[in-house]
Amino acid sequence: MPPEAASGELPLFSLLDVEKSFPLEGGRQLKALDGIRLTLAPGESLALVGESGSGKSTLVRVMLGLEPASNGRVMVGAADLSTFDAARKRQFSREVAYIYQDARGSLNPRMNVAGLLAEPVRLHRLRDEREIPGRVDELLAQVGLPRALRYSYPSELSGGQVRRVAVARALACEPRVIVADESVAGLDVSVQAQLLNLLRDLQRDQGLAMVFVTHDLGVASYLCEKVAVMYLGRIVEMGATREILAMPRHPYTRGLMQAFPRFDAPLSVSLQGEIPSPANLPAGCRFRSRCAYARGDCAQIDPPQTLLDGRRSVACLYPLYLA
Ligand SMILES: Nc1ncnc2c1ncn2[C@@H]1O[C@H](COP(=O)(O)OP(=O)(O)O)[C@@H](O)[C@H]1O
Ligand code: SF4
Ligand SMILES: [Mg+2]
Repeated sequence: MPPEAASGELPLFSLLDVEKSFPLEGGRQLKALDGIRLTLAPGESLALVGESGSGKSTLVRVMLGLEPASNGRVMVGAADLSTFDAARKRQFSREVAYIYQDARGSLNPRMNVAGLLAEPVRLHRLRDEREIPGRVDELLAQVGLPRALRYSYPSELSGGQVRRVAVARALACEPRVIVADESVAGLDVSVQAQLLNLLRDLQRDQGLAMVFVTHDLGVASYLCEKVAVMYLGRIVEMGATREILAMPRHPYTRGLMQAFPRFDAPLSVSLQGEIPSPANLPAGCRFRSRCAYARGDCAQIDPPQTLLDGRRSVACLYPLYLA
């Protein structure tokens, strides 16, 4: 059974030792996710952060049932996602709305904005046909887009407008959870700020849970109360964002914070050494080749996610203390 939240309420999601491997040529496997343990409570906001290739998008895809886990279980409430029948899958796709990394590519270029927003409302039978135009207007207003854009096609919209349409399409499903993958990456800072404010307001006003994938720790801290730091397919540190930023316990998190607030660029200043290939993980701790604190047994023991002080999970044999 999944663990219960402090309130006694079941988490929306519990990932229990989830693994995801992709087959490579020559019979080798690429382990994109390894020993992932994670819960998401109703109304909670979680940022997944980590360098490119750390497994963030794969984790989201497995959570959403878009890819099966190779091992472990993804629980939705008390039910195992892999056992869902077609009707339950449809309900799940309404409850958990996904904003794709490539927002523009996820929108049908032959549909105008009104059509794009009406589609999920019709699909899930959330309104009568005659109520749909009004609902489209409501959604446009909610994401701060003018009504005049109803008849525009995705190719006529700016990057910021496309992301807003993607958010509106997610809201059209009346979800309990919004999962957004790099939804503000590549936008001007001012447009980014507007979108982040919008997501934050939605989360606060509607009590939505949110999983927000980002490689920007500044974005994570603005938007999410909880953060999971990923490195080569494992969550190396997870807990309250405020506490982690105040005192990172995993050497990788500390390295990232020295590169704060952006860490999608090479981290050579704060973190030494090459990232190993996920197709050829080293024995022992996967962060060992870049860790300034590595000791002898770090080469033999692969540290799992371990709960420290009952609140923060850290995958390190020698978690850091206040320097
Ligand atoms: N379909 C796939 N087949 C093979 N390898 C994949 C596939 N999807 C992702 N990967 C690999 O899994 C690792 C994690 O990728 P991804 O989840 O996209 O990371 P992130 O979103 O953090 O950048 C990478 O090494 C990537 O190359
Ligand atoms: S287990 Fe060892 S190598 Fe890995 S992060 Fe901790 S101290 Fe560094
Ligand atoms: Mg990604």
